[in-house]
Amino acid sequence: MATSSSASAQPLSNLEDWDDFLEGRYKEGKTESEFRQYDAEATPGVAEFYRLNHQYQTVDYVLAKERQYFGLTRGEKTIWEAAEYLNTLVDDSDPDTDLTQIEHLLQTSESIRRDGHPRWMVLTGFIHDLGKCLCLYGEPQWGVVGDTFPVGCAWSDQIVFPEYFADNPDRNISRYQTKYGLYEPNCGLENVHMSFGHDGYIAEVMKSYLPDEALYMLRFHSFYAWHRHGAYKYLENEKDKAMLSWVNKFNPYDLYSKGHAKPDMKALKPYYDDLFAEFLPEKLAW
Ligand SMILES: [Fe+2]
Ligand SMILES: [Fe+2]
Repeated sequence: MATSSSASAQPLSNLEDWDDFLEGRYKEGKTESEFRQYDAEATPGVAEFYRLNHQYQTVDYVLAKERQYFGLTRGEKTIWEAAEYLNTLVDDSDPDTDLTQIEHLLQTSESIRRDGHPRWMVLTGFIHDLGKCLCLYGEPQWGVVGDTFPVGCAWSDQIVFPEYFADNPDRNISRYQTKYGLYEPNCGLENVHMSFGHDGYIAEVMKSYLPDEALYMLRFHSFYAWHRHGAYKYLENEKDKAMLSWVNKFNPYDLYSKGHAKPDMKALKPYYDDLFAEFLPEKLAW
């Protein structure tokens, strides 16, 4: 219980609330107006969470967090050590029914493996949320999870709860409020500063080791405005267009792989030891 995500001042009772919200938001067959209803009324904690996220994710904030974390100066860990560290974030009030963070990671990766996808994609499933350890470094929920979006250019109305950008100070900086803002047409999403969170951080940790397809899945898995709603096409380059189908291939595993049977950690460990060794050094800089 003694983790930052359970602090009473936080709008989400734990980080899983955001994942559950996403799953509800993208349930098959829901109309746009049904989404809105679900968003605003049924999940006030999530709405408050997004209000903070949209208010505080400014250009200055993002650049400062990139300087703070993208140099990877927080020590070395193996993947298992990083996963064990993330496990200390488990803070749910009903620990009997809930899975640990590692079990959630294994559910995602095992679903990908069952469907016969490449080994690098199984690995990507296992590691995609390891960046949530930012919470353990003391970052607030709104700076770790939530939909991501470009900063330094006009916000798309395809971003969830766009009305909450009214309180973002970048609203008053005119060069950030044009269509392209700080960027050039079709400059490529890798050259765009995204709102800060667990996606960008884990992509930085992995960028020397994994193929571009995997890095796109990591870096942009919460960029729903782009991969789900088709926004920001005018920033895309050819590489982004080619990678989008891989990001979309990954998304259902992120949304819907929870709630299956508890993975047998002991039986699975040798497979994952081999998988990590195939792509990664034993210890990685975090
Ligand atoms: Fe995630
Ligand atoms: Fe996830």
